Amino acid sequence: MYLRFGFKSTLVVSSAKLVEEIWLFHRIMTTGGKSGNFALYISSTECNSIDPSGKMNTIICRVGFGKRYDKGGIERSRYLGLLKESRAMLSSFSFSDYFPFASWVDRFTGLLNRLEKTFKELDSFYQELIDEHLDPNRLKPEEEDIIDVLLQLLEDCDFPFNLNIDHIKAILMNVFVAGTEATAATVIWVMSFLMKYPKCLKKTQAEVRDLIGKKGFVNEDDVQGLTYLKAVIKETFRLQPTAPLLVPRETLGKCNIGKNLETWENPEVFSPERFIGYFIDYKGLHYELIPFGAGRRICPGMRMGVATVELALANLLYNFDWEMAIGMNKEDLDFEAISGITAHKKNALTLKKNISD
Ligand code: HEM
Repeated sequence: MYLRFGFKSTLVVSSAKLVEEIWLFHRIMTTGGKSGNFALYISSTECNSIDPSGKMNTIICRVGFGKRYDKGGIERSRYLGLLKESRAMLSSFSFSDYFPFASWVDRFTGLLNRLEKTFKELDSFYQELIDEHLDPNRLKPEEEDIIDVLLQLLEDCDFPFNLNIDHIKAILMNVFVAGTEATAATVIWVMSFLMKYPKCLKKTQAEVRDLIGKKGFVNEDDVQGLTYLKAVIKETFRLQPTAPLLVPRETLGKCNIGKNLETWENPEVFSPERFIGYFIDYKGLHYELIPFGAGRRICPGMRMGVATVELALANLLYNFDWEMAIGMNKEDLDFEAISGITAHKKNALTLKKNISD
């Protein structure tokens, strides 16, 4: 589908064959646009809007920055405030993206000031994290986090890229935003589909409970045996990709792209079984299913994202029985998404949970 937004020509590609053609034959794209125990986290009230983003943040902060922001206090509200503002800025409409000569409009609406303010706040947030890691009196952590690794690369003369502090901050920005948003949104979509299709919910839950038995929790190694859960996640990615437009790209040169109308069998039907015994993966080699993109800009956090989603869902299904909230039935479930880089579910998923025996 070809669209024209102001001075920007935009091509939306939605067929596997075309995606393959673009990635294999037209390597001309560059990124464009504006510059353990998971179940315990779900509070013990009867009716819950599931919001896994807090837990996802905790995981990302520990792996990325070696920090815990899940204990409340000023640090936590600063962190959450920055995350919220970054999310708002990334999905905001910037007039000058489409009419480059009219940046005064964004100045007039206050968008540019807000962008500059957010940029400065994020910059000092990352600088403080880096300074803490550089402090010679810092207690040596048990495991290195991403900042430790990046700072080592900064010193490494054999590293083939001339890394500087700004690069490190840019990578932290990616981890900060990309790492939490997509993972949390994916968990919500999977739970929504499972509630809509109770047979699939039962089957997924039976698989987890049969495998784990009385152990009490699901860990990363267990997840490898959960074939049906993995198929459910793939089917969710197929019907409701978390980042449907990937990251916008800009062409560097002219190219022609053909047409292809290949589809899935019964594409509208939620059927995880289509992935059982039929090997299609989302690692960027099967262009029918690319929730993490493909090629050289494929999501670098794919393994971590999938591991987090699988573990979160397995624990949610192992520990609780889920029902629609009182007064609602599965027909009321909607699949409307908010527009933005990450497609979050528009209306909260409100469920009733019962602790399983
Ligand atoms: C289920 C979870 C996730 C999904 C569905 C997802 C999806 C995506 C997609 C579709 C892209 C764009 C790829 C392209 O344009 O070709 C992307 C990029 C990216 N993702 Fe993820 N992601 C997830 C989790 C994560 C995590 C956990 C991290 C980091 C800790 C992460 C870091 C990134 C980064 C840094 C990029 C930009 C890569 C680049 O432009 O070269 N993502 N992700």
